[in-house]
Amino acid sequence: MYTQALDIPDADQRARQAMAPAAEAGEKALQAQFDAKIDADRRIEPQDWMPDAYRKTLVRQISQHAHSEVVGMLPEGNWIARAPSLKRKAILLAKVQDEGGHGLYLYSAAETLGVTRDAMVDALHSGKAKYSSIFNYPTLTWADVGTIGWLVDGAAIMNQVPICRCSYGPYARAMIRICKEESFHQRQGFDALMTMMKGTPAQRDMVQDAVNRWWWPVLAMFGPPDTDSPNSALGMRWGIKRISNDELRQKFVDATVPQAKILGVTVPDPRLKWNEERQHYDYGAIDWNEFWAVVNGNGPCNKERLATRVKAHADGQWVRDAALAHARKQQQRSMKEAA
Ligand SMILES: [Fe+2]
Ligand SMILES: [Fe+2]
Repeated sequence: MYTQALDIPDADQRARQAMAPAAEAGEKALQAQFDAKIDADRRIEPQDWMPDAYRKTLVRQISQHAHSEVVGMLPEGNWIARAPSLKRKAILLAKVQDEGGHGLYLYSAAETLGVTRDAMVDALHSGKAKYSSIFNYPTLTWADVGTIGWLVDGAAIMNQVPICRCSYGPYARAMIRICKEESFHQRQGFDALMTMMKGTPAQRDMVQDAVNRWWWPVLAMFGPPDTDSPNSALGMRWGIKRISNDELRQKFVDATVPQAKILGVTVPDPRLKWNEERQHYDYGAIDWNEFWAVVNGNGPCNKERLATRVKAHADGQWVRDAALAHARKQQQRSMKEAA
């Protein structure tokens, strides 16, 4: 996952209505207790008092994160039936299933804040809720699958590791497990690309083409520059966001350029250069117009992704109905036994 969209407000009315009201009396004292907990770097748990804005921010961020995991299954899912070997197919299946699992942990974490799963899913399907813009790009060749693992999951790790220390307990705990799985995703992607780079010139060209197409959207995944991220300061104060968008992006570039050298691919940025003074790589300008166009629904695959997601949900209705009927039956049986 994939957290670029996480600090983009979506004005979700339903989530707002689901917020628990702040305690009426002694709100100041409760606020002081909350602030003290944040200052002491202690976790906030679902039963604790929290400011409405904190709850609202978390519902937005965690649900957008969950949506990103679930929609993130789609670009690679397209390649499960076309994987080049049984081994690659098994790895890809496991990876895509992991992403579905990440979505489920995160929906559960968001539910502890008082929002329902149905409300979150409705917001996604109606186009009201955001998910990471990166999944609105197409997967044209097998090299795209490896590149998503290497770069997109690599960026996700950079973004998500600090969330393991998020002030909200259920979110932080979900992220610990998720990050372990993301490491496997990144490695399998790098490994798939390395295999292709040792193959034919056509395979190497395929990898380079995929890297050329994904590099810039991946850099944009970290979100708008710090000067243009209105939610970041409060997120930092609340211990939800620990490292700024620009810092994370720089860490990603610094970690990834040496990997590109090992792989033997060129990063498509003529301005990419090691800066001895800063001890970081300098890199070129990101096209923020493209980023916002994709976030606002006009990327190459936005409509396709949403339509596929809505269809999958509708097709799965019978499974949910059957599970509910089974649960009801079990409950009736245990009530009968207890009587
Ligand atoms: Fe994930
Ligand atoms: Fe992943």
